Amino acid sequence: MTPPLVAIEALSASSVRDGNQPVLRDVSLKLERGEVHGLVGESGAGKSTIAKALLGILPATIHVTGGWLRFEGRDLLTLPHGELRALRGRDITLIPQDPQTALNPARTIEAQLTDGLRMKLGLRGAALRDRALDLLEEVQIRDPARVLGSYPHQLSGGMRQRVLIAAAFAPGPKLVVADEPTTALDVTVQKEILRLIRRMQERHSTAVIFVTHDLGVVAKICDNVTLLYAGKVIEAGTTADLIERPQHPYTKALIAAGPRYDRPGQGLEPVPDSIFQLLRAQIAGSAERTTAS
Ligand SMILES: Nc1ncnc2c1ncn2[C@@H]1O[C@H](COP(=O)(O)OP(=O)(O)OP(=O)(O)O)[C@@H](O)[C@H]1O
Ligand SMILES: [Mg+2]
Repeated sequence: MTPPLVAIEALSASSVRDGNQPVLRDVSLKLERGEVHGLVGESGAGKSTIAKALLGILPATIHVTGGWLRFEGRDLLTLPHGELRALRGRDITLIPQDPQTALNPARTIEAQLTDGLRMKLGLRGAALRDRALDLLEEVQIRDPARVLGSYPHQLSGGMRQRVLIAAAFAPGPKLVVADEPTTALDVTVQKEILRLIRRMQERHSTAVIFVTHDLGVVAKICDNVTLLYAGKVIEAGTTADLIERPQHPYTKALIAAGPRYDRPGQGLEPVPDSIFQLLRAQIAGSAERTTAS
């Protein structure tokens, strides 16, 4: 039987920077090939920590304290550095949050896009430039030749993010990790970028881990979703189930808090304090059980 593309099992981590505060608490989730999986939760939920662990770029101040992180059955946490480097940027790539800072301001788009193609695909000369032009066309950039010769500051935020999406899909990865790829963009551009990511993943049958704090975005783009709070999985399932039939009071409250994915502009109730008390009690409860076992 082929293992799932990604299997995270009982992953726990803590922050040395914050007095060994738990950052992930027994997180488990699975991702199949071609699936778009949303990681959703408010600030500090641990979304980026999971994204970084998948890319093998956890900061030294975050320690994994237990569990497994398997990619096609291989545990990324114990994989030799060389093998991890070969996976990263080829089988697993990143669409970053901020297209402004992710590109080098001193180099042309061509230089930056072709670096990856040369290194990861071994392309050279005219084939390299042709592939870069094709990629820009694929992400619906109208004048690809001009854009290749441009520096990042000559492009809009949306165009820069299109370039980064092209770069992320260029090596034909199995998994693209998108960490809040639209939060730095204007609202109108956000929608186009979401559509583009979905289109690219469908064309290439790529799995995507989509990090966001917005359930509305999850509803638009994700097949399945894992909702986290303070490093703990609160609820997980298909997007339709989680949004239409939420089970946990926190999920219900978040959906009520909107903005409503189906009725734009109608943000309703803030999440009540009692829900946060419940979450804290549940987290403390499961920590006690872990210590006792
Ligand atoms: N470099 C770091 N070193 C140590 N601890 C960190 C580091 N970065 C984040 N943390 C801790 O890990 C926890 C989870 O952070 P993480 O960045 O994964 O959250 P997030 O869900 O991505 O939040 P946000 O929506 O703000 O991006 C936080 O409580 C934070 O204090
Ligand atoms: Mg984050």
